[in-house]
Amino acid sequence: MKMDRWRASARRILKLSSRPDRAPRSAPDRGNPARYGSLHCSGRSCRGTQFYFGHQQPLSVHLREREFASGASFIQSRWFGSMATKIQRNPKFATINSDDIRYFTDLLGDKNVIQDEDALLAANMDWMRKYKGSSKLLLLPRSTEEVSQILKYCNSRCLAVVPQGGNTGLVGGSVPVFDEVIVNLGSMNKVLSFDEVSGILVSEAGCILESLVNFLDSKGFIMPLDLGAKGSCQIGGNVSTNAGGLRLLRYGSLHANVLGLEAVLANGDVLDMLGTLRKDNTGYDLKHLFIGSEGSLGIVTKVSILTPPKLSSVNVAFLACTDYLSCQKLLLEARRKLGEVLSAFEFLDEQAMDLALNHLEGVRNPLPALHKFYVLIETTGSDERSDREKLEAFLVHSMEEGLISDGVVAQDIQQASSVWNIREGIPEALMKAGAVYKYDLSIPVEKIYDIVEEMRNKLGHSARVVGYGHLGDGNLHLNISCPQYDDAVLAQIEPFVYEWTSKHRGSISAEHGLGLMKADKIFYSKSPAAVQLMASVKNLLDPNHILNPYKQLQELIEHNLMVKSNAIVGKWSSSPCRYQSEHWLSSLGDVIQHLISAI
Ligand code: FAD
Ligand code: MLT
Ligand code: ZN
Repeated sequence: MKMDRWRASARRILKLSSRPDRAPRSAPDRGNPARYGSLHCSGRSCRGTQFYFGHQQPLSVHLREREFASGASFIQSRWFGSMATKIQRNPKFATINSDDIRYFTDLLGDKNVIQDEDALLAANMDWMRKYKGSSKLLLLPRSTEEVSQILKYCNSRCLAVVPQGGNTGLVGGSVPVFDEVIVNLGSMNKVLSFDEVSGILVSEAGCILESLVNFLDSKGFIMPLDLGAKGSCQIGGNVSTNAGGLRLLRYGSLHANVLGLEAVLANGDVLDMLGTLRKDNTGYDLKHLFIGSEGSLGIVTKVSILTPPKLSSVNVAFLACTDYLSCQKLLLEARRKLGEVLSAFEFLDEQAMDLALNHLEGVRNPLPALHKFYVLIETTGSDERSDREKLEAFLVHSMEEGLISDGVVAQDIQQASSVWNIREGIPEALMKAGAVYKYDLSIPVEKIYDIVEEMRNKLGHSARVVGYGHLGDGNLHLNISCPQYDDAVLAQIEPFVYEWTSKHRGSISAEHGLGLMKADKIFYSKSPAAVQLMASVKNLLDPNHILNPYKQLQELIEHNLMVKSNAIVGKWSSSPCRYQSEHWLSSLGDVIQHLISAI
C-alpha cells in the first residue's frame, strides 16, 4: 500500500482552485455502500462489531465549476450575516482617483492593476457568499518592495486596504466592506529555500498551501498544516488567520511551526523577522503578533516554517459511536493507546453525515447503516506493522468497552481518501444545502456537544443544527442550516451562542478568526485589558487604521472608544487622517451597547 502518496493525490474532496471564483473539488463517484471484509481482530472477540473496508472503486478526480459561481442562483446571499454588523463607510478614507491609478500602474504595470468589474467581482465576494464589498481596485504585487510601495502610498493618501490571500476565509475578513483597495498576494508564489536537514521551508506568502504540500512531498516532507481549502488558501493567509485544520492535534498551531516571517507595515516599512532558528530568545518574539492578526497589523510577505518529515505508515479508521460521551471517551483512549502516532481525531454527527451523503458528489457511507456520531481517526508513524498493531489493539479495546458500535479501516489510499472526503466535504455540503450560520467554537471537550443540543431545542424544526469538527483540539464547528437566511432564526442563535461559549470559558473563534462577522464579539473571549493592549498595538503599527478596516477592534479604536468595566473609556492616539462623523458614531452606538451588555 503506497500510503506515502495518498495525501498528495486523491485525498481531497474539496480542491478549491487558485482562483477565488472557482471551487472545484475532487470527489469519488457515488456508489452503493458496500461491505468488503472485516478487520482482523487478533482472535479476540469483537462483540459482533464488524469493520468494513471501503469500496475499491477508483476515485474519479475531476474538477468542476462551483455550482454557485457567479450567476447561479441557489445559494442564498446575504451581506453581513451577523447581527451587530451595521457599518457605514468611514469618510476619513479617500476614494481612488485617476492619479492613484496612474501611480499603481507605473509601479506594478497594467496587468497587475485590476479594475475590470467582472474580475473584481470574485475578489469582492467571500467563499461563503455572505460578505460582499465594492472595491474598484485589485492590486497584484510581485515583490516585498512593491507591497511596501503600495502601503506607503495608501497610508499617505489614507486609502483603506484589504490584504487578501486565497479568499477562503469564513468570517468575511478577506473581502472589502466598502471600496478598500484589495492587495492580493497570489503573484508572490515562490519557494525561496528548503533545508533538507532541518526541514525548514522559506517561501513567499502567496504560495498556495497545496503547492507547498506538493513541493515538500517531492523532498520527503509534509506541511504541519492541512485543511480542506488547501487548493486555494495561501500560506500568508494561513499564517494571518493562524489556521488550525486537521493536523493541529499532532503538530501544534502555526505559533509553534512558523519560525519567522517578513511583514510590511502600514507605512511601508519592511519588518524582517524571517529567522530560520528553532531557538532565539533575543527580546520580544514579534512574529507572533502577525500570526492570527488577520491582516490588521501588516501584510505578511514571506514565511519560514518548520516542516516534519513524511512518515511512511498512515492508517485511517472511520468509526461509529452511539452517543457523544462515547466519542469523548474514545478520544481519551486514542490518546492513551495510540499516543505519538495519533495524527487526527475528527468527529461529525448524523446531521453532518446526512448533508455529506446528500449534497456531495460521490460521497457514500462506508458503513452499512446510519449512526448518531462518527469519528475519523488517523495514525501516522514510521513502522507499518507496529502502527497497525497499535491501531488494532486500540480498536479491539474500544469495541470491548462498547465505545464503538461499528467502523471501517481503510485498506488503501482510495479508501482513506473517501473517508476523508466525508469529513472535509461538510463545509461545501452545508453551502449547497442553503443558508448557513457558521460558528467555530473552542469549548472544553466534555461540554462540546451540549451547545449543539441546546441549539436544537431552541430552534426546533425551524433549522437544522449540525455539529462536527476537530474534537481532538476541543474545536466544534456548530453550523445552523436553513433553506434561507432569516432574521428570526439569527435572533435565536445570537447572542445566545456567544453568551453560552463565554459562560463556559470557551472561545468564540477557535480557528477562523474574527473578520467582519465577529468584529464586535471579541469581549466574549478576551478581557477588556487584553483588548485595550491589542488596540494599542494596532495604533502603534497602523496609526491611520488603513489595514483591513471595520474588522477586529477597528470601529472601537477608530473612535477613541473602548469598553472597560461597563463604561466606555479611553482615548487613543490621533492620526493625520482622522475624521469623526457624528452619524457614524450613532450607528456604532449599537455595537457598543452590545459590547457593554456582553461584559
Ligand atoms: P484569505 O481568506 O484571503 O484571508 C483571511 C484573512 O487573512 C483576512 O483577514 C486577510 O485580510 C488576511 N490575509 C490573507 N493573506 C494575508 C497576508 N499575506 N498578509 C496579511 N494578511 C493576510 N480554517 C481553519 O483554521 N481550519 C480548517 O480546517 C479550515 N478549513 C476550511 C475548509 C474550507 C472548505 C474553507 C473554504 C475554509 C476553511 N478554513 C479553515 C478557513 C480558511 O481556509 C483559512 O482561514 C485560511 O487560512 C485562509 O487562507 P486564505 O489564503 O484563503 O486567506
Ligand atoms: C473545517 O474544519 O471543515 C473548517 O474549519 C471549515 C468549517 O468550519 O466549515
Ligand atoms: Zn475546522
